[in-house]
Amino acid sequence: MFALHFRYLSEGASGGLGKSTAYDLAKRGAKVILACRNMKKAEAVARAIRMKTHNDNVYAYYIDLGSLRTVKDFVQDFQKNEPKLDVLINNAAYLGPRATTEDGYERSFGVNYLGHFYLTYLLKDRLKKCAPSRIVNVCSDSYAKGKLEFEDLAMKNYDIYGAYARSKLAIARFTVEAHRCWFPDVVLAYAVHPGCVHTELLRNWPGVFGEVLRAAARFLFKTPEEGCQTIVYCAVAEGIRDQSGKMFENCKPLKTKDFVKDKAKGRQLWNKSLRLCDLDEEPDVSDDEPTPEVNNVKVTGEQDETGAQHLANPEGKKEK
Ligand SMILES: NC(=O)c1ccc[n+]([C@@H]2O[C@H](COP(=O)([O-])OP(=O)(O)OC[C@H]3O[C@@H](n4cnc5c(N)ncnc54)[C@H](OP(=O)(O)O)[C@@H]3O)[C@@H](O)[C@H]2O)c1
Repeated sequence: MFALHFRYLSEGASGGLGKSTAYDLAKRGAKVILACRNMKKAEAVARAIRMKTHNDNVYAYYIDLGSLRTVKDFVQDFQKNEPKLDVLINNAAYLGPRATTEDGYERSFGVNYLGHFYLTYLLKDRLKKCAPSRIVNVCSDSYAKGKLEFEDLAMKNYDIYGAYARSKLAIARFTVEAHRCWFPDVVLAYAVHPGCVHTELLRNWPGVFGEVLRAAARFLFKTPEEGCQTIVYCAVAEGIRDQSGKMFENCKPLKTKDFVKDKAKGRQLWNKSLRLCDLDEEPDVSDDEPTPEVNNVKVTGEQDETGAQHLANPEGKKEK
């Protein structure tokens, strides 16, 4: 059961799952921000979504998740123009041969994890202010094969799948840790495995194997419209507050490997990420199970000052 939510920020929305997610949310009347690195593509997608959904509240902003500098610039721009943020969808990803980000990090780790971490961290106060709010991290079941060693962030023995899996392990751990840190502020965090979806994700896989994968994807994988359903679900579904911190597949919580929930490893990753992003380290949070500070208060809404339509309020939005 879906209910209409408020303002969404989805990055990596110029194609694939991000685009379908943005379309689905816009169709529900939400205000949707597409944060993308190719502005020509992003503007065209935003325009097409506005036309098809008759929802004028779809905007494109510039971000490159492989450049911490542009993430910071984006956040400054976003915060100047957008007073509210209810759901942040961390979707963008790179899968391909060895490459580095503008900041010099291995590209899969940099784009698929560190950029998202930095973006989320910089937006955390906005999310807390808009609580109950949500973070949806688009992950992958490949996390289970990931190996994260901080001494080898450059990945000496690089392989495409290994680098991708490592980045997905990092974002899966980040989801658990974000839940642990921010659930008391009623910022909920979900990871999503969308399944195998026919998108552009495999475009950079070289050689015959890449061609075989892309051909198989065309016939065997889900469409982006089917594939985005669990992302949309985690963004808008009612009654999943107590599932915060979990990974979802097919709109249901997925049992993840125990090592994803390892608190020491999660904290280590968090602190390492703060250092990599040139942010100050934080004191550890309590080991107790986190509990939210505000109670569910059901409210219904109509139209806010931005024109976004609110039909119902999943998770009981506080009236401000
Ligand atoms: N497709 C699957 O089978 C599958 C399975 C499991 C998980 N996932 C996950 O689903 C998410 C969406 O992937 P997808 O399948 O939709 O792939 P996709 O079609 O390749 O879309 C990826 C999106 O990320 C954007 N992006 C890449 N690098 C970026 C950067 N540095 N800064 C900003 N945006 C950037 C791309 O923009 P450009 O057009 O500018 O490159 C594109 O819009 C990813 O997190 C992926 O890991 C996908």
